[in-house]
Amino acid sequence: MELPVALDPASHDSLQGQLFDQFRGLVLSGRLRPGSPIPATRELSQQLGVSRNTVLLAYDRLIAEGYLQTRPAVGTFVSPELPEKSLTLEAGMRPGLATQVRTSARRKIAFRGQAQAVVTSQAFDYDFRLGQPDPRSFPARAWRRLVNRVLVAAETRFTEYRDPAGMPQLRRVIAEHLGPARGIRVDPGQVVIVAGCQEALNLVARLLLREGARVAIENPAYQGSAFLFRSYRAKFVPVPVDANGICVEALPATGTAFACVTPSHQYPMGFTLSLERRLRLLDWAQRTGSYIIEDDYDNDIRYHGSPLAALMGLDSSGSVIYVGTFSNSIGAGLRLGYLVVPPHLVAPARTVKALLNDGHPWLDQAVMAEFITGGAFKHHLRRLRRMYGARRDCLVENLRRHFGEAALSGTESGMHVAWQLPGGFPRATGFQAMAARRGVGIYSLPSGPACDFGGCAYSGRTVILGYSSLDERGIEAGIARVAQALDAWRRSGRPE
Ligand SMILES: Cc1ncc(COP(=O)(O)O)c(C=O)c1O
Repeated sequence: MELPVALDPASHDSLQGQLFDQFRGLVLSGRLRPGSPIPATRELSQQLGVSRNTVLLAYDRLIAEGYLQTRPAVGTFVSPELPEKSLTLEAGMRPGLATQVRTSARRKIAFRGQAQAVVTSQAFDYDFRLGQPDPRSFPARAWRRLVNRVLVAAETRFTEYRDPAGMPQLRRVIAEHLGPARGIRVDPGQVVIVAGCQEALNLVARLLLREGARVAIENPAYQGSAFLFRSYRAKFVPVPVDANGICVEALPATGTAFACVTPSHQYPMGFTLSLERRLRLLDWAQRTGSYIIEDDYDNDIRYHGSPLAALMGLDSSGSVIYVGTFSNSIGAGLRLGYLVVPPHLVAPARTVKALLNDGHPWLDQAVMAEFITGGAFKHHLRRLRRMYGARRDCLVENLRRHFGEAALSGTESGMHVAWQLPGGFPRATGFQAMAARRGVGIYSLPSGPACDFGGCAYSGRTVILGYSSLDERGIEAGIARVAQALDAWRRSGRPE
């Protein structure tokens, strides 16, 4: 009896593993029917040109897992008990590969949603990508030293469950940092350590959103928050933004679970919420019984002037939930951030965090706590501000040199600027494609990743340029290429 089995000696899988997989496939696809005899080990080893031991080991495993049965002195058979109707693996499919599994039409998942765009997929010569600190800025030497130090003192910390809200020392140093840096005076117990803003926003959504709840959101907004709240079936009330941040007068008068805002550096336009609007926003929250989610993503990197106090620092009514991150100051790969909640939300926030993942990994928290405590974080921020400040100046100067008085916003802080393209330029997506053909990455709002709810003053004519991962030479060369591309486009007279 010849079986359709072929082994590949060059494969990474062992011969016995390949034999096991292929036999299992033949059984599950019904090509070897329950009860049918299979070749003796000697016969099959000769057919395949492998040792008998290889076949024996594969058969032993098939028997142990219930695919085959041996009848002493008779032979080996496909298990007769296997239910024929369930043997549905299609010919050619390899068992065990999740991507090949056919989904039953009756099996439903409750989740509906879309992930935010990740701006790293294409390789450019000069990439004005967003949200990524310069890889060379990562404090690798200090980190290595601190990892070693905390490992030596780890004792039982790797084997125990710890407080799901986070490590007390890290919560304390974050609370201490937020006082002078953001004007927020909180008890360390109000701080919850999370895997970046994204987890903080998830936690907030679980705390506050019921299906169909109304959420006021900036238009345009950061995709990570908009798509997240939509996945919780929230109903959006998009609120316009202008040079002073979110237009508070356009917020709904009643019935909003919360307003999600980016006051330090509106994402993606880069505007700063004025003090007057901050106070009116707090008043709105108090009057309507809504919360404010303050996503303070870009707060640590400000180039001149002292930052405006955070909304949470101005709040006296327990309306503000503050979200901070180390993604832009240290690195997005760290996945470390924090949530600060008003006192009455401490217990429920801790419970949600326990249900989500029972706390952030201890090692990362311990290293971060040491990094802040020893003063290295402050020093690191000063270095970043100097470095990114010089890059921002270089970008602004080059844009103006090549394109005249470019309408830029967001230059006071953060790591990107928004540029409203003037008439006589292609629209944002055409401009992005034109630059991409010259090896330069610049980003329209949707690829930003920003969410445009329509009817927004910046739709279609805004591009965003991050300057944190290019040095001055790269910025100069990248913008020069964009200028050449624009010249060529104008000469060709062919709008894209
Ligand atoms: C406004 C805003 N909030 C949050 C995030 C994500 O932060 P994290 O990496 O901490 O999840 C980003 C990232 O670009 C952002 O722009």
